[in-house]
Amino acid sequence: MNILVTGANGFLGQHLIKYLNARQYTVFATSRGKRRVPDDVPIMYISADLTDAKAVQDAVTHAQPNIIIHTAAISKPDECENNKPHCLQNNVEATTHLLQAFKLIQTPSKLFIYLSTDFIFGEMGPHSEDDATGPLNFYGESKLMAEQLVINSGLPYAVVRPVFIYGDVWDGLRPSFLHWVKNSLEQDKGIKVVSDQLRTPTYVYDICAGIDAIIKQHKTGIYHLAGSDLISPYKMAVTTAAVLGLNEDLIESVTSETFPEPVKRAKRSGLKIDKARQQLGYEPVSFEEGVRRTFGAVE
Ligand SMILES: NC(=O)c1ccc[n+]([C@@H]2O[C@H](COP(=O)([O-])OP(=O)(O)OC[C@H]3O[C@@H](n4cnc5c(N)ncnc54)[C@H](OP(=O)(O)O)[C@@H]3O)[C@@H](O)[C@H]2O)c1
Repeated sequence: MNILVTGANGFLGQHLIKYLNARQYTVFATSRGKRRVPDDVPIMYISADLTDAKAVQDAVTHAQPNIIIHTAAISKPDECENNKPHCLQNNVEATTHLLQAFKLIQTPSKLFIYLSTDFIFGEMGPHSEDDATGPLNFYGESKLMAEQLVINSGLPYAVVRPVFIYGDVWDGLRPSFLHWVKNSLEQDKGIKVVSDQLRTPTYVYDICAGIDAIIKQHKTGIYHLAGSDLISPYKMAVTTAAVLGLNEDLIESVTSETFPEPVKRAKRSGLKIDKARQQLGYEPVSFEEGVRRTFGAVE
C-alpha cells in the first residue's frame, strides 16, 4: 500500500514517516525544499511546494498513493494571524490542490487523512467530535476551512484532530515545549509557565498508532486522537521536572495575562477521545508516561 505523507520535514511528518516505514507500508514523503527526514529512514522523498498545483499533481502522480496523510500546514497561530493570505494559501488552497490531484489518479482503497486541530473549537473544552466549532483565531479558521474541503470532497476521508503534540526530537526538528523545560531546568534557569490554560497534550506516537488503526480498519469520519489527561502547561512542566528528577521550584505558575499574545487562544480546550477508544481501540499513554518515553525515545 502506497502512502504519501505531506509536511514530511515537520514534527509530526517526520515521526509518522519513521513509524509507517517500520510497518508494512511503502512510504512517499513530500515537503518544501530539501529533505530533513533522517537519511537512515528509507523513504522516497519528493520536494514540492503544495501551493503549486502542478507540483502537487506531479508528486501525487509519481507516488500513486492509496492513502494521502496531509500534515503540511502553517502550524504557528501567530504566523497565520500576521499574514492571512499566506496562511490561506498554505493551509486551504494547498489542501484543494491535493484533493484535486488525488481525484485524478486511479488507485484502489483511496483514503485522504487530514490533520486538523483542537483550534477549530472555542472555549468549554474538552470537545467531542460533533461539538459546534468556533475558532478563536485565523489559524483555527483556516484549519476548519480545510476540514470542510476534505469532508465535502467526495473522497473517502478521515479528519484527525490532535492537541499540543510532543515527543522525542532529533537533528532537523525543533525542540518541543518539554525540551525547553528540561534544558532550562538543567541550566538552573527559572521559568514562568501558564496554569490557566487546559489542554489534552498528545504523545506523537499515539497519533501514529491511531492513524495506523484508521488505515487498517478502513475507518472514515472525524476522530479525536489526543491525550487522556486534561492539564495546564504548568502541570506539564512540573510533571516533566518530576520524571527527569529536576528542580520543580524553578517553575513559576503564572496566568495567561503574563504573556500578552496577538492571537486569542482558548483557556479551556482539549479533546474527548471516547469515540477513538471505542471504534479504533485507541489507548494513549498518560502524560507522565509520554514524558518518560519522550526522553527515553521509546516508540
Ligand atoms: N504541533 C502541534 O502541537 C499540533 C497540534 C494540533 C494539530 N496540529 C496539526 O498537525 C499538523 C502537523 O503539525 P506539526 O507540528 O508537525 O507542524 P510543523 O512542524 O510546522 O510541520 C509542518 C510542515 O509543513 C510544511 N509545509 C507548510 N506549507 C507547505 C507547503 N506549501 N508545501 C510543502 N510543505 C509545506 C512545513 O514546511 P517548512 O518546514 O518548509 O516550513 C513543515 O515542514 C499540522 O497540520 C498542524 O496544524 C499540530
